[in-house]
Amino acid sequence: MEPRYPKHLNVLLPCFVVLGIMAGLVAYAPELYRAFCGATGYGGTTQRAYSDPTTSSDQTVTVAFDSNVAPDLPWRFEPEQRSVTVRLGEQKLVFFTAENLGSESIVAHATFNVTPETSGAYFNKIQCFCFNEERLGPHQKVEMPVVFYVDPAFAKDSDNAQVDTITLSYTLLRSVNPDQAKNLARFEANATPDAIHGEQLFTQRCSACHALDSNKTGPMLRGVVGRKAGSAAGYHYSQALQSAALTWSTDSLDRWLADPKSFVPGVRMPVRVLDAPSRRDLVAYLQKVSQGRDNPADSNRPVSGGEY
Ligand code: HEC
Repeated sequence: MEPRYPKHLNVLLPCFVVLGIMAGLVAYAPELYRAFCGATGYGGTTQRAYSDPTTSSDQTVTVAFDSNVAPDLPWRFEPEQRSVTVRLGEQKLVFFTAENLGSESIVAHATFNVTPETSGAYFNKIQCFCFNEERLGPHQKVEMPVVFYVDPAFAKDSDNAQVDTITLSYTLLRSVNPDQAKNLARFEANATPDAIHGEQLFTQRCSACHALDSNKTGPMLRGVVGRKAGSAAGYHYSQALQSAALTWSTDSLDRWLADPKSFVPGVRMPVRVLDAPSRRDLVAYLQKVSQGRDNPADSNRPVSGGEY
Protein backbone atom coordinates (compact mmCIF):
# COMPACT_ATOMS: atom_id res chain seq x y z
CA MET A 1 0.00 0.00 0.00
CA GLU A 2 1.27 3.48 -0.84
CA PRO A 3 1.85 6.02 1.94
CA ARG A 4 -1.15 8.31 2.47
CA TYR A 5 0.44 11.77 2.67
CA PRO A 6 1.22 12.20 -1.04
CA LYS A 7 -2.51 11.95 -1.70
CA HIS A 8 -3.17 14.74 0.80
CA LEU A 9 -0.47 16.77 -0.82
CA ASN A 10 -2.19 16.35 -4.18
CA VAL A 11 -5.11 18.28 -2.76
CA LEU A 12 -3.26 20.58 -0.36
CA LEU A 13 -0.53 21.81 -2.69
CA PRO A 14 -2.88 23.37 -5.29
CA CYS A 15 -4.85 24.91 -2.40
CA PHE A 16 -1.68 26.54 -1.03
CA VAL A 17 -0.73 27.77 -4.47
CA VAL A 18 -4.17 29.32 -4.98
CA LEU A 19 -4.11 30.82 -1.48
CA GLY A 20 -0.65 32.20 -2.13
CA ILE A 21 -1.75 33.86 -5.37
CA MET A 22 -4.82 35.34 -3.68
CA ALA A 23 -2.75 36.68 -0.77
CA GLY A 24 -0.33 38.21 -3.28
CA LEU A 25 -3.14 39.86 -5.20
CA VAL A 26 -4.62 41.31 -2.02
CA ALA A 27 -1.22 42.57 -0.80
CA TYR A 28 -0.40 44.24 -4.12
CA ALA A 29 -3.94 45.34 -4.96
CA PRO A 30 -3.26 49.08 -4.43
CA GLU A 31 -0.19 49.02 -6.70
CA LEU A 32 -1.99 46.92 -9.32
CA TYR A 33 -4.97 49.28 -9.20
CA ARG A 34 -2.73 52.33 -9.57
CA ALA A 35 -0.88 50.73 -12.51
CA PHE A 36 -4.18 49.78 -14.12
CA CYS A 37 -5.67 53.25 -13.63
CA GLY A 38 -2.49 54.93 -14.83
CA ALA A 39 -2.53 52.88 -18.02
CA THR A 40 -6.22 53.19 -18.75
CA GLY A 41 -7.31 56.47 -17.17
CA TYR A 42 -9.91 54.48 -15.23
CA GLY A 43 -11.15 56.23 -12.10
CA GLY A 44 -10.16 59.69 -13.36
CA THR A 45 -6.40 59.02 -13.31
CA THR A 46 -4.65 61.43 -15.67
CA GLN A 47 -1.83 60.60 -18.08
CA ARG A 48 1.74 61.87 -18.08
CA ALA A 49 3.09 63.09 -21.42
CA TYR A 50 6.67 63.81 -22.46
CA SER A 51 5.93 65.15 -25.91
CA ASP A 52 3.52 67.54 -27.49
CA PRO A 53 0.23 66.37 -28.95
CA THR A 54 0.67 65.64 -32.64
CA THR A 55 -2.77 66.85 -33.71
CA SER A 56 -5.11 69.59 -32.62
CA SER A 57 -8.70 70.45 -33.33
CA ASP A 58 -11.02 73.45 -33.27
CA GLN A 59 -13.27 71.84 -30.72
CA THR A 60 -12.96 73.27 -27.21
CA VAL A 61 -13.48 72.03 -23.69
CA THR A 62 -13.47 73.91 -20.39
CA VAL A 63 -11.09 72.73 -17.70
CA ALA A 64 -12.02 73.78 -14.16
CA PHE A 65 -9.62 73.58 -11.21
CA ASP A 66 -10.27 72.53 -7.69
CA SER A 67 -7.80 72.44 -4.78
CA ASN A 68 -7.96 70.92 -1.31
CA VAL A 69 -5.54 70.75 1.61
CA ALA A 70 -5.47 68.01 4.25
CA PRO A 71 -6.47 69.41 7.69
CA ASP A 72 -3.06 68.66 9.23
CA LEU A 73 -1.10 70.56 6.57
CA PRO A 74 -0.69 74.28 7.34
CA TRP A 75 -0.54 75.31 3.67
CA ARG A 76 -2.66 77.57 1.54
CA PHE A 77 -3.07 76.11 -1.94
CA GLU A 78 -5.14 77.64 -4.73
CA PRO A 79 -5.43 77.69 -8.50
CA GLU A 80 -4.75 81.16 -9.95
CA GLN A 81 -7.64 80.72 -12.37
CA ARG A 82 -10.90 78.92 -11.69
CA SER A 83 -11.12 77.55 -15.22
CA VAL A 84 -9.72 77.85 -18.75
CA THR A 85 -11.16 76.95 -22.13
CA VAL A 86 -8.77 75.07 -24.40
CA ARG A 87 -8.83 73.70 -27.90
CA LEU A 88 -8.36 69.93 -27.98
CA GLY A 89 -4.67 69.20 -28.53
CA GLU A 90 -3.64 72.72 -27.42
CA GLN A 91 -0.99 72.93 -24.71
CA LYS A 92 -2.02 75.18 -21.85
CA LEU A 93 -0.03 76.70 -19.00
CA VAL A 94 -1.83 77.42 -15.73
CA PHE A 95 -0.56 78.28 -12.25
CA PHE A 96 -1.30 77.19 -8.72
CA THR A 97 -0.07 79.06 -5.64
CA ALA A 98 1.17 77.28 -2.55
CA GLU A 99 2.14 78.98 0.68
CA ASN A 100 3.51 77.38 3.82
CA LEU A 101 1.78 79.20 6.70
CA GLY A 102 3.76 77.29 9.32
CA SER A 103 7.13 78.09 10.85
CA GLU A 104 8.87 74.89 9.82
CA SER A 105 9.83 73.39 6.48
CA ILE A 106 7.25 70.80 5.35
CA VAL A 107 7.08 68.23 2.57
CA ALA A 108 3.75 67.57 0.89
CA HIS A 109 2.56 65.69 -2.11
CA ALA A 110 -0.45 66.14 -4.31
CA THR A 111 -2.95 63.50 -5.28
CA PHE A 112 -5.12 64.38 -8.24
CA ASN A 113 -7.92 63.16 -10.40
CA VAL A 114 -10.24 64.42 -13.07
CA THR A 115 -14.00 64.19 -13.37
CA PRO A 116 -15.88 62.89 -15.19
CA GLU A 117 -13.76 59.74 -14.93
CA THR A 118 -14.19 59.02 -18.64
CA SER A 119 -11.99 62.04 -19.46
CA GLY A 120 -8.97 60.84 -17.44
CA ALA A 121 -7.44 58.83 -20.29
CA TYR A 122 -7.36 61.97 -22.47
CA PHE A 123 -5.99 64.43 -19.90
CA ASN A 124 -2.21 64.70 -20.34
CA LYS A 125 0.16 66.57 -18.07
CA ILE A 126 3.54 67.67 -19.42
CA GLN A 127 4.68 69.65 -16.37
CA CYS A 128 3.23 69.33 -12.89
CA PHE A 129 4.32 69.76 -9.28
CA CYS A 130 2.26 66.63 -8.62
CA PHE A 131 4.96 64.35 -10.05
CA ASN A 132 7.06 64.73 -6.87
CA GLU A 133 7.20 65.11 -3.13
CA GLU A 134 7.58 68.87 -2.68
CA ARG A 135 9.20 70.90 0.12
CA LEU A 136 8.30 74.46 1.12
CA GLY A 137 10.31 76.42 3.69
CA PRO A 138 8.65 78.30 6.54
CA HIS A 139 6.31 81.06 5.27
CA GLN A 140 7.53 80.46 1.73
CA LYS A 141 5.14 81.05 -1.15
CA VAL A 142 5.52 79.86 -4.78
CA GLU A 143 3.67 79.86 -8.06
CA MET A 144 3.71 76.39 -9.52
CA PRO A 145 3.21 75.80 -13.26
CA VAL A 146 1.09 73.02 -14.70
CA VAL A 147 1.22 72.37 -18.46
CA PHE A 148 -1.41 70.07 -19.90
CA TYR A 149 -3.42 69.25 -22.99
CA VAL A 150 -6.58 67.30 -23.69
CA ASP A 151 -6.08 64.68 -26.39
CA PRO A 152 -8.24 65.32 -29.50
CA ALA A 153 -9.37 61.66 -29.27
CA PHE A 154 -11.47 62.87 -26.32
CA ALA A 155 -14.14 64.11 -28.75
CA LYS A 156 -14.33 60.76 -30.53
CA ASP A 157 -15.15 58.81 -27.36
CA SER A 158 -18.94 58.49 -27.16
CA ASP A 159 -18.69 58.39 -23.33
CA ASN A 160 -17.65 62.06 -23.49
CA ALA A 161 -20.34 63.21 -25.92
CA GLN A 162 -22.12 65.28 -23.24
CA VAL A 163 -18.99 66.49 -21.46
CA ASP A 164 -18.16 70.19 -21.87
CA THR A 165 -16.25 70.68 -18.59
CA ILE A 166 -13.46 68.59 -17.11
CA THR A 167 -12.61 69.27 -13.48
CA LEU A 168 -9.04 68.73 -12.33
CA SER A 169 -8.85 68.31 -8.55
CA TYR A 170 -5.76 68.32 -6.42
CA THR A 171 -5.48 67.43 -2.76
CA LEU A 172 -2.27 68.28 -0.92
CA LEU A 173 -1.30 65.87 1.84
CA ARG A 174 1.59 65.80 4.28
CA SER A 175 4.23 63.54 2.74
CA VAL A 176 4.97 60.16 4.27
CA ASN A 177 8.14 59.93 2.20
CA PRO A 178 9.90 63.30 2.69
CA ASP A 179 13.44 62.09 1.93
CA GLN A 180 12.96 62.21 -1.84
CA ALA A 181 11.50 65.72 -1.81
CA LYS A 182 12.32 68.44 -4.33
CA ASN A 183 12.35 72.08 -3.30
CA LEU A 184 9.44 74.09 -4.62
CA ALA A 185 11.83 77.06 -4.59
CA ARG A 186 12.96 75.82 -8.03
CA PHE A 187 9.85 77.49 -9.45
CA GLU A 188 10.89 80.94 -8.20
CA ALA A 189 11.95 83.40 -10.87
CA ASN A 190 15.42 83.91 -9.37
CA ALA A 191 16.14 80.21 -8.73
CA THR A 192 19.55 78.90 -9.89
CA PRO A 193 19.29 77.18 -13.29
CA ASP A 194 19.55 73.40 -12.97
CA ALA A 195 21.44 71.92 -15.93
CA ILE A 196 20.92 68.37 -14.66
CA HIS A 197 17.17 68.86 -14.77
CA GLY A 198 17.71 70.49 -18.18
CA GLU A 199 19.44 67.34 -19.42
CA GLN A 200 16.55 65.23 -18.20
CA LEU A 201 14.06 67.50 -19.97
CA PHE A 202 16.19 67.39 -23.11
CA THR A 203 16.01 63.59 -23.11
CA GLN A 204 12.27 63.64 -22.57
CA ARG A 205 11.25 66.48 -24.83
CA CYS A 206 13.93 67.21 -27.44
CA SER A 207 15.88 64.02 -28.16
CA ALA A 208 13.19 62.62 -30.46
CA CYS A 209 14.37 65.26 -32.96
CA HIS A 210 17.74 66.55 -31.70
CA ALA A 211 21.10 65.07 -30.74
CA LEU A 212 24.12 67.00 -29.53
CA ASP A 213 26.56 65.89 -32.21
CA SER A 214 24.52 64.75 -35.21
CA ASN A 215 21.65 66.13 -37.25
CA LYS A 216 18.33 64.30 -36.96
CA THR A 217 14.89 65.75 -37.72
CA GLY A 218 16.34 68.86 -36.09
CA PRO A 219 19.91 70.25 -36.20
CA MET A 220 22.67 69.16 -33.79
CA LEU A 221 22.71 71.35 -30.71
CA ARG A 222 26.13 71.16 -29.09
CA GLY A 223 27.64 74.62 -29.36
CA VAL A 224 24.28 76.25 -30.12
CA VAL A 225 24.80 79.03 -27.55
CA GLY A 226 26.82 81.67 -29.40
CA ARG A 227 26.19 80.02 -32.81
CA LYS A 228 24.46 81.83 -35.65
CA ALA A 229 20.87 80.57 -36.08
CA GLY A 230 20.42 78.17 -38.98
CA SER A 231 24.11 77.37 -39.35
CA ALA A 232 24.75 73.77 -38.21
CA ALA A 233 26.86 72.10 -40.90
CA GLY A 234 24.99 69.69 -43.17
CA TYR A 235 21.50 70.46 -41.84
CA HIS A 236 18.79 71.56 -44.26
CA TYR A 237 17.03 74.48 -42.52
CA SER A 238 13.82 76.27 -43.42
CA GLN A 239 14.43 79.43 -45.41
CA ALA A 240 13.10 81.41 -42.44
CA LEU A 241 15.67 80.17 -39.92
CA GLN A 242 18.52 80.20 -42.40
CA SER A 243 17.99 83.85 -43.20
CA ALA A 244 17.20 84.98 -39.63
CA ALA A 245 19.80 87.52 -38.53
CA LEU A 246 20.16 85.96 -35.12
CA THR A 247 22.88 84.55 -32.93
CA TRP A 248 21.67 82.21 -30.20
CA SER A 249 22.04 83.56 -26.66
CA THR A 250 20.42 82.30 -23.46
CA ASP A 251 17.86 85.06 -23.93
CA SER A 252 16.93 84.32 -27.53
CA LEU A 253 16.87 80.57 -26.83
CA ASP A 254 14.35 81.20 -24.06
CA ARG A 255 12.12 83.13 -26.45
CA TRP A 256 12.58 80.48 -29.16
CA LEU A 257 11.58 77.65 -26.85
CA ALA A 258 8.52 79.53 -25.60
CA ASP A 259 7.15 79.71 -29.15
CA PRO A 260 9.51 79.16 -32.12
CA LYS A 261 6.91 79.98 -34.76
CA SER A 262 6.06 83.39 -33.38
CA PHE A 263 9.69 84.20 -32.54
CA VAL A 264 10.83 83.45 -36.13
CA PRO A 265 7.77 83.15 -38.40
CA GLY A 266 8.03 80.38 -40.98
CA VAL A 267 10.24 77.95 -39.01
CA ARG A 268 9.49 74.25 -38.77
CA MET A 269 10.04 73.36 -35.10
CA PRO A 270 6.63 72.24 -33.77
CA VAL A 271 7.46 72.17 -30.05
CA ARG A 272 6.84 74.79 -27.35
CA VAL A 273 7.98 74.77 -23.74
CA LEU A 274 5.41 76.90 -21.99
CA ASP A 275 6.73 77.12 -18.43
CA ALA A 276 9.67 79.39 -17.74
CA PRO A 277 11.44 77.15 -15.15
CA SER A 278 11.70 74.28 -17.68
CA ARG A 279 13.04 76.66 -20.36
CA ARG A 280 15.59 78.09 -17.93
CA ASP A 281 16.91 74.59 -17.10
CA LEU A 282 16.96 73.46 -20.75
CA VAL A 283 18.93 76.55 -21.75
CA ALA A 284 21.34 75.98 -18.83
CA TYR A 285 21.95 72.48 -20.18
CA LEU A 286 22.46 73.72 -23.76
CA GLN A 287 24.85 76.34 -22.44
CA LYS A 288 26.78 73.78 -20.42
CA VAL A 289 27.25 71.44 -23.39
CA SER A 290 28.05 74.41 -25.64
CA GLN A 291 30.91 75.53 -23.44
CA GLY A 292 32.49 72.11 -23.92
CA ARG A 293 32.65 71.39 -20.22
CA ASP A 294 30.67 68.23 -20.86
CA ASN A 295 32.68 65.27 -22.11
CA PRO A 296 31.29 64.26 -25.56
CA ALA A 297 31.85 60.59 -24.71
CA ASP A 298 29.38 61.14 -21.91
CA SER A 299 26.54 62.34 -24.08
CA ASN A 300 24.84 58.94 -24.19
CA ARG A 301 25.08 58.47 -20.46
CA PRO A 302 21.62 57.75 -19.02
CA VAL A 303 20.22 60.63 -17.03
CA SER A 304 20.05 59.71 -13.39
CA GLY A 305 18.06 61.23 -10.58
CA GLY A 306 14.37 61.38 -9.84
CA GLU A 307 11.56 62.71 -11.94
CA TYR A 308 10.94 66.43 -11.93
C1 HEC B 1 9.41 67.28 -33.46
C2 HEC B 1 10.80 67.61 -33.68
C3 HEC B 1 11.49 68.60 -32.75
C4 HEC B 1 11.51 68.58 -31.38
C5 HEC B 1 10.83 67.59 -30.43
C6 HEC B 1 12.34 69.69 -30.99
N1 HEC B 1 12.83 70.33 -32.07
FE1 HEC B 1 14.17 71.88 -32.10
N2 HEC B 1 14.10 71.93 -34.11
C7 HEC B 1 13.36 71.09 -34.92
C8 HEC B 1 13.51 71.48 -36.30
C9 HEC B 1 12.85 70.80 -37.50
C10 HEC B 1 14.37 72.59 -36.31
C11 HEC B 1 14.82 73.40 -37.53
C12 HEC B 1 13.76 74.45 -37.77
C13 HEC B 1 13.85 75.13 -39.12
O1 HEC B 1 14.78 74.87 -39.92
O2 HEC B 1 12.95 75.97 -39.35
C14 HEC B 1 14.72 72.85 -34.91
C15 HEC B 1 15.59 73.87 -34.51
C16 HEC B 1 15.99 74.08 -33.20
C17 HEC B 1 16.92 75.09 -32.79
C18 HEC B 1 17.65 76.08 -33.68
C19 HEC B 1 19.03 75.53 -33.94
C20 HEC B 1 19.85 76.23 -34.99
O3 HEC B 1 20.84 75.63 -35.44
O4 HEC B 1 19.53 77.38 -35.36
C21 HEC B 1 17.05 74.97 -31.42
C22 HEC B 1 17.91 75.81 -30.50
C23 HEC B 1 16.18 73.90 -31.00
N3 HEC B 1 15.56 73.37 -32.10
C24 HEC B 1 16.04 73.46 -29.68
C25 HEC B 1 15.13 72.48 -29.28
C26 HEC B 1 14.95 72.07 -27.91
C27 HEC B 1 15.73 72.61 -26.72
C28 HEC B 1 13.97 71.13 -27.92
C29 HEC B 1 13.35 70.42 -26.70
C30 HEC B 1 12.58 71.26 -25.82
C31 HEC B 1 13.56 70.92 -29.28
N4 HEC B 1 14.29 71.75 -30.07
C32 HEC B 1 12.60 70.00 -29.66
C33 HEC B 1 12.58 70.04 -34.49
C34 HEC B 1 12.32 69.70 -33.18
